[in-house]
Amino acid sequence: MNDKEDKEVATLETKVEVLENGPLLVYGTLKVTDKDGNSENKSKTTAFCRCGASGNKPYCDGSHISAGFEG
Ligand code: FES
Repeated sequence: MNDKEDKEVATLETKVEVLENGPLLVYGTLKVTDKDGNSENKSKTTAFCRCGASGNKPYCDGSHISAGFEG
C-alpha cells in the first residue's frame, strides 16, 4: 500500500460483519477494484460473496441460498 492509499484508508470509517451462511457486509465508503483492475466507489452497505457461487463477484447476488452455503 502506498502513502496515498494509506491516507485513503485512514479517512474511511468502515464496519465489517459476517452474515451466517451468507455474505460479508461492509458498511462505509469503499473503493472496490475487481480482478481486471476496474474500480468503483461504493457507499452505505456492500455485500461481498463468501460462498463462491455469485454470478456477480466480488459481490453477493443471493446465490448462496440456492447453493446451500454454510459458514
Ligand atoms: S455469499 Fe451470497 S452469493 Fe455468495
